[in-house]
Amino acid sequence: MSERVIPLIDQRHLAPKSVPVLTTALPKLQVLGQVQDRLNRPLRDLRISVTDRCNFRCSYCMPKEVFDSNYTYLPQTALLSFEEITRLARLFVVQGVRKIRLTGGEPLLRKNIEVLIEQLAQLRTPDGVPLDLTLTTNGSLLKRKAQALKDAGLQRITVSLDGLDDAVFKRMNDVDFPVADVLEGLEAAQAVGLGPIKVNMVVKRGTNDDQILPMARHFLGSGMVLRFIEYMDVGATNGWRMDEVLPSAEVVQHLQTQLPLVPLEASAAGETAQRWGYANAQGQHDHALGEIGVISSVTQAFCGDCNRARLSTEGQLYLCLFASQGHDLRSLLRTGASDELIQASISGIWAQRDDRYSQLRSQLPPATSENPAATTAPRRVEMSYIGG
Ligand code: GTP
Ligand code: 5AD
Ligand code: SF4
Ligand code: SF4
Repeated sequence: MSERVIPLIDQRHLAPKSVPVLTTALPKLQVLGQVQDRLNRPLRDLRISVTDRCNFRCSYCMPKEVFDSNYTYLPQTALLSFEEITRLARLFVVQGVRKIRLTGGEPLLRKNIEVLIEQLAQLRTPDGVPLDLTLTTNGSLLKRKAQALKDAGLQRITVSLDGLDDAVFKRMNDVDFPVADVLEGLEAAQAVGLGPIKVNMVVKRGTNDDQILPMARHFLGSGMVLRFIEYMDVGATNGWRMDEVLPSAEVVQHLQTQLPLVPLEASAAGETAQRWGYANAQGQHDHALGEIGVISSVTQAFCGDCNRARLSTEGQLYLCLFASQGHDLRSLLRTGASDELIQASISGIWAQRDDRYSQLRSQLPPATSENPAATTAPRRVEMSYIGG
């Protein structure tokens, strides 16, 4: 195995940016309005990481060399409680959030996660509409938990699966986890109605790109939407290299040789995926065959209408997946701040946001083996900590 040196600095101990604390009375608009950032992007999507732990060691996310038995995870007291999460979520909804995604780490490892889901499922928009409430999982515990998640009020689910061949999948998850168990989890989720189900496959050139066609064939006509994700330079530990990225354009081209596709309209503003429908003999989208998506954060950045905020396991608000620092909402919660103050802080932080890392990536010095991506810019936070 080739050796590589991974700088071990614990990002979590960097001082968070201080939260602007407002002491004067707030104009009503600021408290109740839909907040926009400096690039006129609304806040719509809140992704909440409920644990920094995972039972997989995907090389692109939690490489074994770093996340080994010596790695220190957050202590229980550092985590936001379910009540703290629900309170913050309610305040984010007032600012315009309409979709909540629970992530991790692996969110199903958080004890009693269905209790949190029950609480979040009660939230309503100012117009009285329930939120789009979803969760990203590696599927390992899904067979066991699907019914409880549905009963708690989860609407839909996204499952990560990086291949159909056991040897390839085990190489990706690096803990010898078999494909069959994830497929059983997917079946269970479908049976209890946790749909529409999405399946996310991160593609690493030379590692699992031979799985693109088998995965497409497997999910064709299944009612599940398979999405191919470009391997990203997120975090600081995965040793990312551009030559391991397979551009989405090549994925689509490759699929087209066997399975004709037609481009579809975006279904929501700010969507991560470009949609493609399987075509019938007349070259039109065949709804029975379904669709796929490609997520091209590296070759075709989608920062322009990015409406996603991320809340880390310990209550830091991050404005970008590639951010180096967060804003400490937990300390506001734990020092007894009022709802109004927390709301004003959230809107104040969002109003200052100008992050668009993926768009700017092309202007960074290129990553090389002597000068890997992790060292060419401020050290970025790990995806397992702020959530995908
Ligand atoms: P849906 O509402 O189900 O369409 O979900 P989504 O696509 O918004 O979320 P999901 O977590 O399924 O995102 C899929 C993948 O896209 C993630 O695992 C990341 O790899 C990538 N991704 C999601 N959000 C962002 C983002 O804001 N920036 C970048 N660069 N990549 C993102
Ligand atoms: N590149 C792209 N996607 C990633 N994820 C984690 N790390 C990366 C990365 N380096 C996403 C995958 C996975 C989800 C939990 O996070 O989509 O399914
Ligand atoms: Fe775990 Fe998901 Fe990260 Fe893989 S990508 S290590 S399953 S959190
Ligand atoms: Fe949003 Fe940052 Fe991703 Fe761009 S790189 S889409 S700003 S999270």
